[in-house]
Amino acid sequence: MKKLLVALMLVAFAATSVYAAKVYTYETKMGNVTFDHDLHKGMGCKDCHHAGMKGCKECHDGEKASSAKEAYHANCMGCHKDQGQGPTGCKECHVK
Ligand code: HEC
Ligand code: HEC
Ligand code: HEC
Ligand code: HEC
Repeated sequence: MKKLLVALMLVAFAATSVYAAKVYTYETKMGNVTFDHDLHKGMGCKDCHHAGMKGCKECHDGEKASSAKEAYHANCMGCHKDQGQGPTGCKECHVK
């Protein structure tokens, strides 16, 4: 079932290609996390938008899909570790 859902979402992805140049700030108890979309745009859209050009939290709410914390940590930190670029330390992202 989940595989089917992901396949359907990939189709939904192909239909859209709007790009938002924007800096997002996520407020957390650990401190604010800044995400500069423009800085990251050279990477493939699908590296992050695996399920359409929607806000991640539309699905990652801990019920429809894993929590936002899990999804962002896996996506953001995962890539930074793989590439050896970008912050991986808690306080490098979560700034008070
Ligand atoms: C490194 C990861 C990453 C890459 C690469 C990336 N995005 Fe994003 N994008 C995000 C995140 C994170 C958000 C903020 C939405 C959120 O946190 O819910 C976002 C937001 C957006 C939004 C606004 C969505 C909404 O409804 O709030 C659009 C449209 C978008 N991106 C399109 C693109 C396109 C097109 C590309 C490729 C040129 C791209 N993005 C590349 C991670 C990425
Ligand atoms: C339309 C719904 C939907 C949207 C939008 C969406 N996801 Fe997902 N995502 C899922 C589903 C379903 C799974 C697989 C089941 C799960 O992990 O809960 C998944 C899995 C993942 C995973 C692997 C599982 C994990 O949590 O470690 C990551 C990482 C991820 N998504 C990141 C993102 C990011 C980042 C965004 C926004 C750029 C995003 N997702 C937007 C539905 C969505
Ligand atoms: C597909 C790989 C990839 C993903 C996914 C990714 N990043 Fe990055 N990030 C990078 C790379 C590469 C750099 C270094 C770019 C540079 O310095 O030119 C970077 C740099 C950064 C920086 C330091 C530059 C700055 O803006 O101050 C921050 C902060 C950052 N990323 C936050 C995030 C967050 C938050 C997410 C998840 C929403 C995320 N990144 C997802 C690859 C990624
Ligand atoms: C690459 C950037 C990045 C790194 C590194 C990172 N985080 Fe996060 N963290 C995020 C993002 C993005 C969110 C999601 C914020 C949201 O849901 O709006 C988050 C959410 C959280 C939350 C949930 C907070 C809340 O108020 O809901 C906690 C707790 C957390 N992180 C702890 C940590 C710890 C501990 C570490 C080090 C092991 C760490 N983070 C490393 C980006 C990062």
